[in-house]
Amino acid sequence: MALPSPPKKPLAAPPPSISAADSLSPLIQATYKSPDLNFYLNGRKVVLSNPNPHWTLLDYIRAQHGLKGTKLGCGEGGCGACTVVLQTKGIQEKRKVSHLAVNACLFPLVGVDGKHIITIEGIGSVSNPHPLQERIAKLHGSQCGFCTPGIVMSLYALIRNSYDVDTKTFHLSASDIESKGHLDGNLCRCTGYKPILQAAKTFITEDLKEHLIEDFKDSNTPILQANLLDVVQGGCGSSSTGPCGRPGGCCRDTSSNKSSTTDSKSAAGSPSTQPSSMSDEEQISANIETNKGLDQDSCISGSTYFKPVKSLQAPIGNGAENHSENTKVGTSLDAPPSQSQKGVPKLHFAEYSPGTELIFPPALWKYEQKPLCYGNGMKLWFRPVTLDQLVELKGIYPSAKLVGGASEVQVEIRFKNVDFAVSVYVSDIEELKETKLPISKSELESIDELYLSANTSLTELERICEDVYEKLGQRAMVLEALRKQFRYFGGRQIRNVASLAGNIATASPISDANPVLLAAGASVVAQTKSKGMFQIPIEQLFIAYRTTSLPADAVITHIRVPLASSDIREVTKAYKQAKRKDDDIAIVTAGFRVRINDEGIVEEIALSYGGMAPTTLSARKSEDAIVGKEWAISKTMELGLDALTKDFDLSFGVPGGMAHYRKTLALSLFFRFWHESVADLGLERVDNQIIMEIRRGLSTGLRDDYNPNEQRVVGKQIPHLSALKQCTGEAEYIDDMPRQERELFGGLVLSLKAHAKLLEVDWAPALEMPGVVGYIDKNSIPTEANIWGSIFKDEPFFADGEVQHYGQVIGMVYAETALEAHAAARAVKVYYEELPAILTIDEAIKAKSFFKHEKDLKKGAAIHGKMEDAFAACDRLFEGTTRIGGQEHFYLETNASLVIPHSEDGSMEVWSSTQNCMETQEFVSQVTGVPSNRINARVKRMGGAFGGKESRSVPFACLLAIAAKKERRPMRLMLNRDEDMMLSGQRHPIQVRWKVGVSNDGKILALDADSYDNAGFSQDMSGAVMDRCITHLDNCYEIPNVYLRGHVCKTNTHSNTAFRGFGAPQAMFVTETILSTIAEGLSSIDIDELRLKNLYTIGDRTPFFQQIDEDWHIPTLLDQIRASSDYDSRKAKVAEFNVSNKWKKRGICLIPTKFGLSFATALHLNQAGATVKIYADGSVLLHHGGTEMGQGLYTKMCQVAAQELGVPLDSIYTHDSQTYQIANASPTAASSGSDLNGMAVKNACEILNERLRPYREKYGPDAAMKTIAHAAYFDRVDLAANGFWKMPKIGYQWGDTNADTAKPMYYYFTQGVGVTEVELDVLTGDHTVLRTDIMMDVGQSINPAIDYGQIEGAFVQGQGLFTIEESLWTRSGELATRGPGTYKIPGFSDIPQVFNVSMLRHDDQGRPLTWKHLRTIQSSKGIGEPPLFLGATVFFALREAVKAAREMNEVKEPLVLHSPATAEKLRLAVADSLVKKAEVIRKDGESGFFVSVA
Ligand SMILES: Cc1cc2nc3c(=O)[nH]c(=O)nc-3n(C[C@H](O)[C@H](O)[C@H](O)COP(=O)(O)OP(=O)(O)OC[C@H]3O[C@@H](n4cnc5c(N)ncnc54)[C@H](O)[C@@H]3O)c2cc1C
Ligand code: FES
Ligand code: FES
Repeated sequence: MALPSPPKKPLAAPPPSISAADSLSPLIQATYKSPDLNFYLNGRKVVLSNPNPHWTLLDYIRAQHGLKGTKLGCGEGGCGACTVVLQTKGIQEKRKVSHLAVNACLFPLVGVDGKHIITIEGIGSVSNPHPLQERIAKLHGSQCGFCTPGIVMSLYALIRNSYDVDTKTFHLSASDIESKGHLDGNLCRCTGYKPILQAAKTFITEDLKEHLIEDFKDSNTPILQANLLDVVQGGCGSSSTGPCGRPGGCCRDTSSNKSSTTDSKSAAGSPSTQPSSMSDEEQISANIETNKGLDQDSCISGSTYFKPVKSLQAPIGNGAENHSENTKVGTSLDAPPSQSQKGVPKLHFAEYSPGTELIFPPALWKYEQKPLCYGNGMKLWFRPVTLDQLVELKGIYPSAKLVGGASEVQVEIRFKNVDFAVSVYVSDIEELKETKLPISKSELESIDELYLSANTSLTELERICEDVYEKLGQRAMVLEALRKQFRYFGGRQIRNVASLAGNIATASPISDANPVLLAAGASVVAQTKSKGMFQIPIEQLFIAYRTTSLPADAVITHIRVPLASSDIREVTKAYKQAKRKDDDIAIVTAGFRVRINDEGIVEEIALSYGGMAPTTLSARKSEDAIVGKEWAISKTMELGLDALTKDFDLSFGVPGGMAHYRKTLALSLFFRFWHESVADLGLERVDNQIIMEIRRGLSTGLRDDYNPNEQRVVGKQIPHLSALKQCTGEAEYIDDMPRQERELFGGLVLSLKAHAKLLEVDWAPALEMPGVVGYIDKNSIPTEANIWGSIFKDEPFFADGEVQHYGQVIGMVYAETALEAHAAARAVKVYYEELPAILTIDEAIKAKSFFKHEKDLKKGAAIHGKMEDAFAACDRLFEGTTRIGGQEHFYLETNASLVIPHSEDGSMEVWSSTQNCMETQEFVSQVTGVPSNRINARVKRMGGAFGGKESRSVPFACLLAIAAKKERRPMRLMLNRDEDMMLSGQRHPIQVRWKVGVSNDGKILALDADSYDNAGFSQDMSGAVMDRCITHLDNCYEIPNVYLRGHVCKTNTHSNTAFRGFGAPQAMFVTETILSTIAEGLSSIDIDELRLKNLYTIGDRTPFFQQIDEDWHIPTLLDQIRASSDYDSRKAKVAEFNVSNKWKKRGICLIPTKFGLSFATALHLNQAGATVKIYADGSVLLHHGGTEMGQGLYTKMCQVAAQELGVPLDSIYTHDSQTYQIANASPTAASSGSDLNGMAVKNACEILNERLRPYREKYGPDAAMKTIAHAAYFDRVDLAANGFWKMPKIGYQWGDTNADTAKPMYYYFTQGVGVTEVELDVLTGDHTVLRTDIMMDVGQSINPAIDYGQIEGAFVQGQGLFTIEESLWTRSGELATRGPGTYKIPGFSDIPQVFNVSMLRHDDQGRPLTWKHLRTIQSSKGIGEPPLFLGATVFFALREAVKAAREMNEVKEPLVLHSPATAEKLRLAVADSLVKKAEVIRKDGESGFFVSVA
């Protein structure tokens, strides 16, 4: 094999000098003789010679045939979609195999040498799933499925590591799954995580026919989990008396009962007339069996099909004789069928047996790693195997980039566009990765420092620190402090590869390890060829922003961490505050150490901070003020606090923003340390609450898994039909589709200015780049074709003359590969003349920058222009401005499209990850000039959408279509996460300026409000969003006099768009803020009483004159949840808690919601079509206008068709959604997918049923479809039918204020209530959700499992909206939060600790509920959007907690809390003395570093 030559033409800095490059050749020839990577991939040996040096492990895996299960979600280690498992030899115990979950998107390909890569495909398939895959699918842990393979692989690593081959024991506790950070590197945007955790916890019970060790230390094991364990084990360990039937046999087994199966004691099995409460007996959600045999439910699965129809004779007789000739063929049902008993789902699981797992390839035990080198003229990779080799290489070529875990380096390559001509992988060098531990007693006694190898992984260090601290106790407190930092350092996948050397060498100001190392007085040991080994104290290391004093050719070999001797009185602690607890970079991070003498006088103090300056920094002034003082007196603490304000005299516009919060945190963390150290040193008794950080228990919760309305197919809890495929990685998304012949990739040229004239665009340099084929822009299509828009055509596909937001598309380069296309797009030179940019709503109002909208709602006095009279009649008036920020959709699959032009007639297949096939077709037709009937816009599934792909997906397909037409070649594009976030718009930031009038007893009498949404640079659907906003400003409350005006602001941000709820959650947030303000202002009325007092009653009219009808169930829901959640007594307990706790505050709230269903102001969209084709073998092909984005629409529609046609579910198949099948389909949106398409499906089935009626009569009601269809076919009956439905009754005309004539705006209201209780750490602003209970009126659910999933997922998404998700712009209009690193969606440990979901089924008397006016498919209700607002219960519970803190702090000003309630806002709102001490005064003309645009 020819050796790669040294780089001739480096891509980017640092440029190697020719002499250096030349000087590498002898080294390559002498040492680095092999360019081959030897490894195993899913059990197969691979020798990969001289691979593409730019490839990460993910690039390699996805280039392999059949390995598309590993996904690209972000490319920055922040979402976990790319997780694979590396099977390697253990580090400390070499004969043990270790399973490491890693982010393939960051992991350098060179690092796989000598290891076994296991991808999702390696562990199971649909035909033979791994038990983990099967359980996640059956327990509804996969919705859109894009996150699923990554989550499966993280859990797979955990499960594999839980089995000890030597002792044959399996040890996995609930806390292993939840509390040790194994899932903190994985995000899911759909499920709300609960079902995934539940599926994972089924493994706690597995004993693998060997030994089970249960973690009895886990006293926290929640009731639900205990019961789930009982259910899987069939009662073992519980009070039930029978044997459990678990695979390894049960302790209660007797010879006569050995084969027993589950006999569940599920409360759900005995339906009650009341919603579930929290008693032990009711904590079970489903009957679950672990057993191999699957009894199939014939209503779900059981289709048998004829042999090819032409080989058959015409049917004769009653058809029964045909049965013998039936042949079972493959069915369409992807998810394994489930059963139910009396409305309660019954699940069967395959046993888990490690004997069937992929083994560590024997050849790898003996494999000896050799020095490696591969690459090309642009980039070289080296992999030395000894420290000497590494030092020598660095000596020859000092600017060679060392790469450890690549968790910094790869992020720089991908997002900062740097590349390194020479990269050196150091993590396989034993001297660097293996930390030797003190083992013997004498070693331990004499040890005075820990000598950590520089590239030991953080996971390994976490274990080492824990181990040594356990043995040495107080002396090793610094290790405990480090362990604490490592636990919340990145996600598990990051910690499995990242190193301390990497963290130190990066010198990030927000490094988590460095403050602790600095406080501890640690030093770095390094080596160079010229100097040999030397040492640098950490305090001399960080010399400037991300710069160290290390020589360029140095290799860090060790880190020396001093340990205190046993006679020294010293305490070391670490603290970190981030936006999200798990996997987040710190806002402020700190390491503190204090040493006192026998008199309690401070001898040494080190206060080190990250996040307060461009480097990790010691608070010198504070240290100086404290040293020599008596530590335990509060005056010393005050001195320290005062000096800290001088150490960190931040300016208002400090880089990174949050000046006041950072400064407050600096003080608060020190305050906490002082108390903690005083307590640890035994100097004084302190309030433990100051020390305790927010802790999370294990998640529990239930679904009231019982459906009294269950029918043959409809109403059953069928798993999502693609769930199993999603769990095995076989489900195909756009970018997984096989590469087409001569396919090209698009790379977008984006504006780097928010508002500017385009002076010149020079794409010539891009065309020079390798692999580039062409470029398109506005000149590639007629001017009139360069314009699009969902409602108004006001947005160019390509910027024309001017750019109007940062990230706007200027052009597109296309090339042979995606990497080449992206590189070339960056090479296009754009020259701008900057213009002033408007970013915020306030700026837009000031500049009168609005899109024409002019819609309002008037009721009562407002109709006659008499609002002032209405206000005059009120006892009290309140006014305010309420803001709610936008929300990034963060679907895990970014926008993607593939356009395949056909050689004939200009026709095209346009695959797009879109909710809107019709609009995609329409605009592709426009830009190509080809009529719609030749454009087949198609989508099989999306990896999440949430409204974000209703319109914003359209331009990408169009750009590709233009290029595809031009080149006559297929074109593909998948946006990078940062591009997607910059380009595709968000939920609208909204501001409402309101005035409300009330009577003294709390009746709201008048409301006047101006609502503004930030539309961005084009209208998209912003007007319709504003319509829904003002039609939901009433939430559930009757207000007699209302004047509501909507305004749509034009700004220079991306164009904001639909997002689950479409303006309604924002509106209801404002309503509830108004109610809180009233309750706080009146102070004589409790907020719950205020809500009840103003609730709609039957017969009332909304501000758009829709009558509240008999299906108004909010009062019933409130009553039932009040009882089931024990609301009143918990509220009293919260009040008691707040009286007796100063440093933690709790809040609880109970809030109702109603959500109007229908496309409210686009009447024409309320229609749907479907086609149903019955084939002569009895199988059914279903198409409808809806698209599948994880919400389970295909599953529900198949259920409807199966129910209507009287066939098993698995005889129905939907391949995809496409415009060739369904013309003029509305977007799948507004929660109306099931309502509209379900009725159309029903209509088509009814037509077919009518045609088949004679055959049913002839062959009898039980005759199989194959018999009937076959007979009908021979009689030349048309077995294909088109169904159609349009929503009746609705059609409100804006401006109609006549109650007699106004048509309803909405077809019906989905209603729900939520109770949430939270705990707030007033020192940091951190919080946890202790418990949430949700009850929804969803009518008669078509598939409760899917609806529970929608409720839980929507709630958690709403929780994110109202708490941690914050979009920020720079002053120049660039979106700063454009990846999971900066934009935080809720993770596994953010969900409510107790999370109960139920559906309304009975009235207050326990009678089954009826819906008098509901005329929907199977009497179900749309559920996708309505529960999202209930996420605001977290906000309002937090508001209560803040209120309690403010009362304690005697703050008199009314509380104004905007959304999201980030830790920053919450902490500052507490307004205690530390907040005041840390105040940062804004100087004249000074602006904040970031802009929030609401
Ligand atoms: C998703 C994500 C989350 C993160 N979360 C956190 C967090 O919570 N807290 C935090 O502090 N950081 C965090 N980081 C940053 C990063 O993970 C850490 O800095 C990590 O310690 C880097 O280690 P590494 O081995 O991956 O370094 P690499 O990326 O391999 O290298 C980083 C730098 O160190 C140099 N280097 C590596 N080894 C040596 C050596 N032996 N001698 C000299 N130089 C060396 C490299 O040349 C490079 O300049 C996160 C990063 C990501 C992507
Ligand atoms: S794609 Fe790798 S972590 Fe997101
Ligand atoms: S199922 Fe997890 S992101 Fe969709």
